[in-house]
Amino acid sequence: MRAPVLQLDNVGRRIEGRPLFSGITLTIHAGERVAIMGQSGLGKTTLLHLAAGMDVPDEGSVTLCARPISSLPEPERTQWRARHIGLVFQDFNLIDSLTVSENIELPLWLNHQRHRQKRVAAMADALDIGALLDRLPSALSGGEKQRVAIARALVHEPAVVLADEPTGSLDEDNAQKVLALFDQVTQSTQAAVLLVTHNPQAAATCERLTHLQHGTLVDGPLR
Ligand SMILES: Nc1ncnc2c1ncn2[C@@H]1O[C@H](COP(=O)(O)OP(=O)(O)OP(=O)(O)O)[C@@H](O)[C@H]1O
Ligand SMILES: [Mg+2]
Repeated sequence: MRAPVLQLDNVGRRIEGRPLFSGITLTIHAGERVAIMGQSGLGKTTLLHLAAGMDVPDEGSVTLCARPISSLPEPERTQWRARHIGLVFQDFNLIDSLTVSENIELPLWLNHQRHRQKRVAAMADALDIGALLDRLPSALSGGEKQRVAIARALVHEPAVVLADEPTGSLDEDNAQKVLALFDQVTQSTQAAVLLVTHNPQAAATCERLTHLQHGTLVDGPLR
């Protein structure tokens, strides 16, 4: 039996006093890929940020790699997140003053990991951005930025990859490459992947599909 790496237990979040979602319960195991679909504005990004420990729920709890991150003090939560989460932000969140190489290296540096240049180069090769390593983010296309964001999320081999529409800015070829890479990391490092997507083909690469609708998360087939 694979170990649970991320557990949301009855999680709820209010925005400006109104409930966005509530009663969300989800367990994801090592090596598992789960997709979340749902209309724009229903709270998928908010849910991913709760799962990452970047935000805390108004109700319920989030457990990441056996620690209840939603009740940890902020510095410990940040440290635990840096080690165990790789987050591909919907709007990339690259650091403008750092080069592509430095952006990708950041999680390795934060976690005091070794062989950094080699690992950055390998990840950049896998995403076909090896020629861009010395550029600043301002000199990249949207699809190139997205691949840098993905490289940064995977480079430190996190237990949980949270990916917010990671193929949204990519052409068919690069989207396939990214999905294949997620497949590869689930097999090689037993990472769990939680994928938010509007793309049915991307969702179909996951073992489980869920839909955020009517303020809660329901399991369901592709529709
Ligand atoms: N900081 C904030 N202050 C006020 N409202 C917010 C804030 N963050 C998010 N919201 C609102 O919460 C709702 C959910 O936002 P969220 O970004 O989670 O949606 P989403 O499902 O990811 O949408 P999309 O598919 O467009 O990315 C939206 O109505 C949004 O306007
Ligand atoms: Mg979103």
